[in-house]
Amino acid sequence: MTQLLEIAVVIPTFNEKANVPTLVAKLDQALAGRRWEAIFVDDDSPDGTAEAARELGRIDARVRVIHRIGRRGLSSACIEGMCATAAPVVAVIDGDLQHDETLLPKMLDLLQRDPDLDVVVGSRFVDGGGTGEWDRDRVAKSAFATKLSRKVLKGDLSDPMSGFFAIRTVHARRLAPELSAIGFKILLDLMTASDVPLRFAELPYTFRVRTEGESKLDHVVAMEYLIALYDRMFGRFVPVRFAMFSGIGVLGVGVHMGVLGLAMLAGAAFLLAQILGALAAMTFNFALNNALTYRDRRLKGFRQLLDGWVSFCVVCSVGLVANVGIAAFVHDFRDGGAAASALIGILVGAVWNYALSSKFVWGRY
Ligand code: GDD
Ligand code: MN
Repeated sequence: MTQLLEIAVVIPTFNEKANVPTLVAKLDQALAGRRWEAIFVDDDSPDGTAEAARELGRIDARVRVIHRIGRRGLSSACIEGMCATAAPVVAVIDGDLQHDETLLPKMLDLLQRDPDLDVVVGSRFVDGGGTGEWDRDRVAKSAFATKLSRKVLKGDLSDPMSGFFAIRTVHARRLAPELSAIGFKILLDLMTASDVPLRFAELPYTFRVRTEGESKLDHVVAMEYLIALYDRMFGRFVPVRFAMFSGIGVLGVGVHMGVLGLAMLAGAAFLLAQILGALAAMTFNFALNNALTYRDRRLKGFRQLLDGWVSFCVVCSVGLVANVGIAAFVHDFRDGGAAASALIGILVGAVWNYALSSKFVWGRY
């Protein structure tokens, strides 16, 4: 009798070439006697991680590769991997050997035995688990992030930051459209996406030391974590991109005023100073939105940047006309107060700038 596929192991990778063969050998050992497949989801790593995995795939059909071009992100890689299997259970494990793959058969056993269970999480914070050789700084940061997560998490997970878990694939597929897919926190995202809380069990493991390659967790990832939390709490009311776009817009007003003041101090006429201020603000906003709000679709290279900057200035100029027109209309024909009319104008202008630039500046490549 042919044995049915039991589990897919999804491995997000970026520059992990040296770890690929070791990990597959370890999976082979840990999952001996089970029917499994490994799915590497690689974001076109410059070191050739995807090719290293394909090489193994040619001799062992259990090893598969999703090679993504022009995309980055741990969470989104995991989601794609989880949706790319026919196995009833899917696990996510780091590609750098820091997670304990010998837990996989236990995770699978628990899910196969107990139909009331949806997720099994590898935890560093239950008895028997640990953070290995982390320094105090990293322990403190992780503890802080975990504490913040309590704001969105109803259940009592000991390690919501864990990137190591197994879940029934039906749940992963069902929840995929609800996920923010931002940053590193795929488990937290899954656990908070479900209306009916997912039923989970936890198994202890000790986080290993990385021996090859380096961590990709940096300030941008930390910022993405805050963005993901915002998205879960308020994203329904004000989309996170719009919030960032508007926040940057407010900073842009400061830049405008600063440049205007400096130019006038230098003896420029008001009109010239005002034009310089506006140009500086638009350039500043364009650069910041390109780096932050649209970092996943960032424009690169001289051509794209020039094109984007010009389109952004055009969109914002039309936005300004809309802003002034609406404010004047509310003020003159609807008897709005000056401040209220101005605010309505600004809001309309902001929505206009946001909607059109997401399409015509960052939606073209
Ligand atoms: N496809 C893809 N795209 N993979 C990525 C990306 C990306 O943009 N960024 C990181 N990865 C892969 C890495 O190659 C590695 O296999 C795995 O995701 C974990 O990344 P690390 O950079 O090694 O993260 P870490 O060890 O600092 O963080 C780990 O611990 C956290 C808990 O504190 C991860 O397991 C996190 O998921 C976990 O939350
Ligand atoms: Mn790591």
